[in-house]
Amino acid sequence: MSASVLTAVAWPYANGPRHIGHVSGFGVPSDVFSRYMRMSGHRVLMVSGTDEHGTPIQVQAEKEGLTARELADKYNRVIASDLQGLGLSYDLFTRTTTGNHYQVVQDLFSALWKNGYVVPKTEMGAISPSTGRTLPDRYIEGTCPICGYDGARGDQCDNCGNQLDPADLKNPRSRINGEVPKFVETEHLFLDLPSFIESLGSWMSTRTEWRPNVLKFSQNLISDLRPRAITRDLDWGVPIPLDGWSDQPMKRFYVWFDAVIGYLSASVEWARRTGDDDAWKEFWTGDAQGYYFMGKDNIVFHSLIWPSLLLGQNGAGDKGGEPGRFGTLNLPTEVVSSEYLTMSGSKFSTSRGTVIYVGDFLKEFGPDALRYFISVAGPENQDTDFTWEEFVRRTNFELANEWGNLVNRSISMAHKNVGAIPKATALTDADHELLRQSRAAFDTVGAHLRRSRFKQASGEAMRVISAANKYLSDQEPWKLKDDPERRDSVLHTALQVVQDANTLMTPFLPHSAQKVHEALGGTGVWAAQPSMDEVTDLDVPDRSYPVLTGDYAGEQARWESSPIEVGRPLQKPSPLFAKLDPKLGETGPEWAPIVTD
Ligand code: MF3
Ligand code: ZN
Repeated sequence: MSASVLTAVAWPYANGPRHIGHVSGFGVPSDVFSRYMRMSGHRVLMVSGTDEHGTPIQVQAEKEGLTARELADKYNRVIASDLQGLGLSYDLFTRTTTGNHYQVVQDLFSALWKNGYVVPKTEMGAISPSTGRTLPDRYIEGTCPICGYDGARGDQCDNCGNQLDPADLKNPRSRINGEVPKFVETEHLFLDLPSFIESLGSWMSTRTEWRPNVLKFSQNLISDLRPRAITRDLDWGVPIPLDGWSDQPMKRFYVWFDAVIGYLSASVEWARRTGDDDAWKEFWTGDAQGYYFMGKDNIVFHSLIWPSLLLGQNGAGDKGGEPGRFGTLNLPTEVVSSEYLTMSGSKFSTSRGTVIYVGDFLKEFGPDALRYFISVAGPENQDTDFTWEEFVRRTNFELANEWGNLVNRSISMAHKNVGAIPKATALTDADHELLRQSRAAFDTVGAHLRRSRFKQASGEAMRVISAANKYLSDQEPWKLKDDPERRDSVLHTALQVVQDANTLMTPFLPHSAQKVHEALGGTGVWAAQPSMDEVTDLDVPDRSYPVLTGDYAGEQARWESSPIEVGRPLQKPSPLFAKLDPKLGETGPEWAPIVTD
């Protein structure tokens, strides 16, 4: 039995629609990985949801004249529908405002508290005099006390790089409305991170397979971990289940504290919805593996904070303790982080109001072109600029000319000449060599995908496609009218390689893979897609919300070469990928035009 796999996908904030940079960090990589793992025989649980608490939501709600809950309701739907459109195969995409999430967060906290990993402390905190609300550090701006830079934020100065305390800033002001913050004494709960230094460190030293930048970055932070506040003076968040705290309207858990626990709560919710309340354990205990996908600004929360919470819950931090309600939970197998997809080179900027939203992108270009672009040319190891020119080039030359063309011409010729999958008679060395190459690719591409090396994986898969195109040009089956036996052997070989290449491309291009499956005469579901269901909150019966879920176990795609069936009838194929007008590369689409100064 292969190990069960938890794919934990970073939770997008429900404060607006997501742009293509967001989904290149958490979305596409996690789905390509999960699809591959399922195809190769693992049981996978892929969970996430919208992150709906905290200041980012409140600030945007005010701008839109909505309550925080109304805003979260609005963007939860928009985001879920965009992620569904991209074909992200969540077993459960939920949200952090469910009754179940509140319960799981409070239970996990209680275990940390009992084991002594949380300490109360009084400190000076900034509030907005006009609203009485806390001003989080990064919403305060002022002059850096160290270098004199005027745009320093309460948590750090981007000019000299020093960590700051908001109370140190000269001339502090709110970035929300410009007013001068008031500093008041306030009591908060702190996660005692120093009491995880040993246990975190020894766990981290076993994580040798992580991407080197993620590992180094995290290791460097361990030795000087300091206690971190896990509560805020806010009225929008999960209440704190302690006497003297639970009835205070302005004390809530910090949004990052509740959000990371979402991986566990979503797994529990998924289990409860299957009717087996304990089904989540298969993905969290024993030899189950857990892979976490995100953009690089999320690394600390996944490589240090979340593992500390898990160790504390398990009673396995440096001070020991007893496991809480969830028993002994696994720490992450890997934290897979992407760098940023920027849009500066093509002169896009959020501040000018031109940003490439996932929804707009899908409407015009469909999901697979974006999935492909992110996989082959995304920010896997370094910040990468999105340009329309590159998008057009990849789509036209790689998807349309290489892959689309291979599918189209091999199926069309077989359809025209035979009407069905032709039979191969004697195979030549060239035939054997191509078949060998496409079969061997399952191991090489698979090894890359297992390690989240998407660029190398897609590159190797594309190599099979190029080899097949070259094979057809060399063999020229269209000139073999007088030798139908040889012609059919060539077409058979080409179609077998189309079948193999389609399997290799399925994690990247699941929608097109379904079409190719049908063009080869296949029926039923080759690659399953998520569905959006309206469900009732399991604990708050008057609330309903959309979730993404799906029946992925029922799909046919397997990570192996499966022999095509001679004699299976073929239809005339329609083009797999539309070619884009090269002008798009110069102008961009109307809804996100390239602005030249
Ligand atoms: N909402 C955060 C962001 O967009 C990510 C939260 S990930 C989780 O940066 F771990 F908290 F779930
Ligand atoms: Zn400075």
